[in-house]
Amino acid sequence: MIVFTLIASFMCLAHGSEYKFLDDFIFGVATASYQVEGAWNISGKGENIWDRLTHSNPTYIVDKSNGDIACDTYHNTVKDVQLLKELGVDVYRFSLSWSRILPTGYSYKINPDGLRYYNELIDELVRNNIKPFVTLYHWDLPQPLQELGGWTNRLVVDYFLDYADLVFKNFGDRVEYWITINEPNLICEFGYALGAFAPAYTQEGIADYLCGHNVLLAHAQAYKLYQSKYKAKQNGKIGIAFQSFWYEPLNLNEEEDVRAAENSLQMNLGWFTHPIYSKSGDYPPIMKERIKTLSEQDGFTKSRLPSFTKDEIEDLKDFGKLQDCSRVGYYNSYLTEVLNATNEDGCNVTGYLAWSFLDNFEWDQGYTAKFGLYHIDFEDPKRTRTPKMSTYVYKNIIKQRKINWGYIPDGFTECD
Ligand SMILES: *[C@@H]1O[C@H](CO)[C@@H](O)[C@H](O)[C@H]1NC(C)=O
Ligand SMILES: *[C@@H]1O[C@H](CO)[C@@H](O)[C@H](O)[C@H]1NC(C)=O
Ligand SMILES: *[C@@H]1O[C@H](CO)[C@@H](O)[C@H](O)[C@H]1NC(C)=O
Repeated sequence: MIVFTLIASFMCLAHGSEYKFLDDFIFGVATASYQVEGAWNISGKGENIWDRLTHSNPTYIVDKSNGDIACDTYHNTVKDVQLLKELGVDVYRFSLSWSRILPTGYSYKINPDGLRYYNELIDELVRNNIKPFVTLYHWDLPQPLQELGGWTNRLVVDYFLDYADLVFKNFGDRVEYWITINEPNLICEFGYALGAFAPAYTQEGIADYLCGHNVLLAHAQAYKLYQSKYKAKQNGKIGIAFQSFWYEPLNLNEEEDVRAAENSLQMNLGWFTHPIYSKSGDYPPIMKERIKTLSEQDGFTKSRLPSFTKDEIEDLKDFGKLQDCSRVGYYNSYLTEVLNATNEDGCNVTGYLAWSFLDNFEWDQGYTAKFGLYHIDFEDPKRTRTPKMSTYVYKNIIKQRKINWGYIPDGFTECD
């Protein structure tokens, strides 16, 4: 199984190792549909939850912006693939907009323009020797499904499976890497408990756990579908992308602090990784116990954390067996540490995807956060792309296969 890490910036890292990336180490950059595509209401695309949130409640976004146009990658396929080619990446990770392909979210109505757009993007990448690395779900649920409760509704698992089937069928002949769902904890915690991301629910302790449960089932089922129906013919790899907050004990000598940090990690990262990677195929024991106890104390008749059936647990575990050393990917967020993880910890990190290819609509931060390798002028109707220092630094790393601390691209000065 592959461990990929995302990073926000390549600049000004502390000095570290002299290790090199092996020739088969995969470099890439990544984006997400809502953050870059624009073209939110053209050629048959349906409304999704980010369209709805940003239009109906602009104050959720710090600069009251939205992804209506964003980087307009929808209209810039050829140009953007040229930038990727110049950068020298092996893969480009992008996500599919579910509502561009299925405007209502349901599979009875397919939007031909959605298939056309992604087919053209994939073909253009392949023509330029860049492997498409496709995320099925990066947070932009079709609005009609949200009206059924979104990820809190078990039925959404079935609709996701229909969508996944269509996507594998249409694009899988050219796609080697798949991610089912991007960062489930953020979907469920920020979207369903904290009200920070669409759909901006604030039912902490209930909606977030239902969401997590269904996201895990959706992932397991899509994985199973791919393995049983497509893998033999298409021979791709399929995984899931995690994010985690990291907790350190305040005092390493205090047992209570050590336990608190471990418990927090279990409740955050373990929530999604334990069901998939552990032998039990279930939530972390501490999480089950704690939520059960608290639920009882609050007068609930059963735990607010849903439980898996035996079959569901088997499906979840099936995936886990293919994984090795997955955790390192979450806490090694910088390249030095990726090299160290590979060379010193014996962890098989096989690739690295920079977040993000382009400055983009950064969810609740709007256009105020600039994580891109390429600057975009959002006032310019052409959304002109301009390389940054980090563009050249990344390009150099890819080319040299190592981190060159002294490298300062032409026209730039040293950063401290
Ligand atoms: C690392 O993982 C890749 C992809 O699964 C595999 O091809 C390779 O042999 C592994 N390398 C090591 C050293 O385990
Ligand atoms: C990585 O390894 C190098 C060389 O052993 C070491 O100097 C450096 O401190 C390590 N960095 C991290 C972040 O562990
Ligand atoms: C699409 O949305 C834009 C705002 O982003 C609006 O000006 C335009 O009229 C809409 N087009 C259609 C066809 O609804």
